[in-house]
Parts: sequence; structure tokens; C-alpha cells
Amino acid sequence: MPYSSMKDVPKGLRGAGLNLRQANVWAKVYDSAKAGGAYNPAGVAWSAFKKKYKKVGRRWVQRTKQLAQSPVGKIIFTHWGKEAIGMNSEILAKKMYELSQEYCPDIPVEIATDNMSVGPPKKKLKSGERAFEEETLSNYLGSKKKFVKHIFKFISPNTKTLLDPMCGSSHVLIEAAKRGIQVIGNDFSPLAFLYSSGIFQGSEVYQEDMEKFRSFPSVSGWLSNSKLQRPKNPESKKLIDGLVLGSWKKFSEDKRRTALAAMSLLFQHYFRGFQAFIAEEEPYSRKQILGDLTKCVKDINELIGEIGGKGKIFSRNVLNEGGIPKADVIYFDPPYFPGGEKDGIRYLNHYYIANSTLMQKTFKPEDPTKEDIIRFLPKLARNTRFLIVSCASPSEIQWERELAKLKKHVKKFGVSKVSTGSQPQGNRANPTVAQSVMENIFCASEKEIFPARKLEKLLFKLEGYDPAKINDTQLSDDLRLCATKWSSILGGKKTEFKDKEECINFAEKVMEEVLKRGKITFSSRQNQKSSALTL
Ligand SMILES: C[S@@+](CC[C@H](N)C(=O)[O-])C[C@H]1O[C@@H](n2cnc3c(N)ncnc32)[C@H](O)[C@@H]1O
Repeated sequence: MPYSSMKDVPKGLRGAGLNLRQANVWAKVYDSAKAGGAYNPAGVAWSAFKKKYKKVGRRWVQRTKQLAQSPVGKIIFTHWGKEAIGMNSEILAKKMYELSQEYCPDIPVEIATDNMSVGPPKKKLKSGERAFEEETLSNYLGSKKKFVKHIFKFISPNTKTLLDPMCGSSHVLIEAAKRGIQVIGNDFSPLAFLYSSGIFQGSEVYQEDMEKFRSFPSVSGWLSNSKLQRPKNPESKKLIDGLVLGSWKKFSEDKRRTALAAMSLLFQHYFRGFQAFIAEEEPYSRKQILGDLTKCVKDINELIGEIGGKGKIFSRNVLNEGGIPKADVIYFDPPYFPGGEKDGIRYLNHYYIANSTLMQKTFKPEDPTKEDIIRFLPKLARNTRFLIVSCASPSEIQWERELAKLKKHVKKFGVSKVSTGSQPQGNRANPTVAQSVMENIFCASEKEIFPARKLEKLLFKLEGYDPAKINDTQLSDDLRLCATKWSSILGGKKTEFKDKEECINFAEKVMEEVLKRGKITFSSRQNQKSSALTL
């Protein structure tokens, strides 16, 4: 028996409510499917398992009820249990929502069908209606979207440049750019690179471009010529090939970037945790694909409005292609090595179909090993004063030990969040419901490491305050803060300012600097430009 006690059973199986005997049945099918070279052994194991244990569905719902009663800040329900119980997305979303209303009306809930987070359904989902139409989001595997806030607690407001050599969906870069930091990103995977370079270096696509995009002719390309079972309809495959090829060939350079970023985003929806187009999206009709694409373009346009032009993205294999640029901060989030005999999360392999379709040629390079990652660390440390490594725990790499070889001070911060955990990826099926997961953030520097001081504290060291030394984003915040303090003073409240006059003098200093720079905006570009694509 592979698992001798419940302690050995992977969290995902436990989360789905499997007992020891059931987990071993699952593992047995999984092992033989893997040995037989099955394309998706976890999928095979779940379908065999489903036939044998129909009851697991009920147990899974019970487990959800328990979770709903636990003291957490937010619950995210995922669809992965559906793999085990064969429920369809709409019924599942509805069921989960009802459960949350019944058991935890006070806790904010997200329903994540097909691992796509959406808010509670605003209306009853009709059959055939897909939950993610409510909102489109980057759904890149490994995305650090939820941790970004914490990571920036340790990044000094005076940071001018930030490099992320394996940037994935660029969530750290997006946040840095919003804070006025110049960013450089890189990712070898076309899915990640095309998305990131589109949002930073693309230009907004307007209604007329969109019409051109939607009318690109279907062609027989990489996807159509592959033996993949999905999309089932050969015409849908040709349509997708046509959209990719048209993006490459028929747009000018900056719009090409936007179009390919939108195609990447579309694939992030259609692939989720699997190496193939997911079955639930069938029939992948023309109407559906073009509708989803339009939403993706809108998302990309909005991001361009916020951070466009504020960074450069490259697509190198950083482990063996040339040098890397120097930066005030380097943020490093490499593929994850959870441990055990099952190796790391293989991003390049994982997104092989999406990457090959995007490049219109087979793209399946070797993924790095943990030794490759460890060997790469000194190169990063040499090029920055402040190196941040982010890593889901547990990890096979002894990060603290490795970083201590490179910098004098190393500090580890654990950040926990309630999450769906990892998605089924490669050989790890994880049909888990929301649970608390831990992310470790390691900072390494020659200087002692403290969380960046809070804005207010900085601001109200009044004597030493020099507006010329403050970056654009912070300066605009400081001015806003002055306005808040001013209204508090008028309301008779105490503030850090002695009196009205001190507040006005201070605000004047800040305002002078703002006017001198002449480029600080106080309303988001996103609002100004949202009319670019009228849907
Ligand atoms: C953990 S993910 C990064 C996730 C990212 N921080 C986010 O928030 O989306 C690791 C990334 O490393 C990239 N990668 C793997 N090997 C690489 C290599 N040799 N050169 C550049 N990027 C690589 C993968 O494509 C993947 O996007």
C-alpha cells in the first residue's frame, strides 16, 4: 500500500473526503495509469475512482460544510471536487453558494468553478451559462496575485528598478509599476511572456482592430494538425490557429503584442490546471471563443491603461542565456519543488499545448531542476542589493541556507492565505476545497532587513521630509494624506501637525514638487481610457 496512514495521504485526497482505503484505491489506479504512459494519470484515477465510490460526492459536500464553519476570513470554493463526483459546473456553483449562505452568511465567499474565481453568482446560472463570464482574470498557474501586498511590505518606497526573471503573469511587476518603479520582467514560457509583454508593451486595441481580429480567417495550423481530442470540432481548432496566426502576421508590432496577450489570457482560461483544453468549455463554438476573446482584449486594454509603457519584458531562458540586468530589487519566484520523489512543477511541460499553439510550432523545452535553480541564485545575488525569493511551502530547496551563502542578512516571512491550494498539475491531482496555505517570502540583503516603514511614519517625520526624494506614487499619496489631515484639523481632531499653518506649509512643499514634476495624475488612466473598446 502506498499510504500506510492518513498522515501520508496527500492533502488533496484528504480534502476530497477520501479515507485511507479509498486513497489507496486512487493511488493504485494512478500508479498503473502512469506506468502505462497515460496522458493524464490523475484524470484516469479519478474516473475509475468515481465509478467505484459514488458516495465520495456526499463526503465532499460534508467536508465543505465543516470548512465553512471554520474561523477563516474568506472561503473560496473550487470545482476540483467535481472531478471526483461528476457534478457539472453550474449545479456545483449553485450548491456551493447555497451552502455558504446557510453555513457562513458572514464570511465573504468566492465561487471558483473551473478554478476561476468569480463572485457569488448574481443570478441563477442557467444551463450552458459559464460562471467565468462574470469576470475575466489572469489565471496563470503559480500566480502570486494574492501575496503581492505582503511582498511589497519589504520593498523600500525608494526602489527605482525591479527585476523579475521568471515573472509568470507579472503580478509583482504590475504592482511595482503602479508604485512608480521601473520594471524588467522575463519568462521563457510564451504563455507568460506574451501576456506580460502585451500588458507592458502593447498598445490598446480599438473597436476597429477588434473587428479585424475577430474576422481573421481560420487556418490549419499547429493545433489543427495536432492529434489533440479537444476542441472536438476541427473548425474550432482552425479558428484558434487562425486567431493566433493573424495576431502574429496582420497586426503592427504594438497591437500584435496586445492581441497575443489576449490569446494568452484566453488560453489561461481554457487550460486552467490541465495540459489540454478543458472538457467543460466544449463545444468551443465560434461564438463562445470570439466572445471570450473580446473580454480578454478588454482586460488587456485595461491593464495597458494602468501600466502600459512602464516596463520591458524578455523571453530568455535565464538559466543559460547571457547576463541579467542589475536592479535595486530582484524578485525571484522559480518553479516550485514540493519534495518527495515527484519532482517540481514543470511549467514548460505543463503549458506545452498552449505554448505550441501560441508559437505555432512545438515548444517543449526541458524544465529546470532544483539544482539549476540553486546554481542560478549567486548570479541574481550579484546583481542586486535586495533579493526576494517567494516560495510555496514546503519546498525541497533549503532557501534560508542557500541565501545565507550569498548575503549577510536573510529574513523569512510566512504569509498564509485561504486558497484552493495547488491545481491538478502534471501528476498531482488536488481536488481540494479551500484551505489555509503558506507562502514563504525570503529577503536577502547585506543590510539588516525591516518591513518598509509605513507611509504615514515617513511623512510625519516632518523635519527631515524632502519631497524631492520621494517617488511619484508616494508623493501623490502624501498629498492626499495632507488633505485628509486638513479635514481632520477642520473637524477639530488632533493630527501630527501642530496647527493649521504647519499643515498648509507642509502641503505647499509637497504641491510644489508635484507641480515641478508635472506628470503625477490623480485619477487612474484606466477610467480615462475605458472607452477604447466599447463592448
Ligand atoms: C512560479 S512561476 C512564476 C509565477 C509568477 N511569479 C506569477 O505571479 O505569476 C515560475 C515561472 O518560471 C518560468 N521559467 C521556468 N524556467 C525558466 C527559465 N529557464 N527561464 C525563464 N523562465 C523560466 C516558468 O515559465 C514560470 O512562469
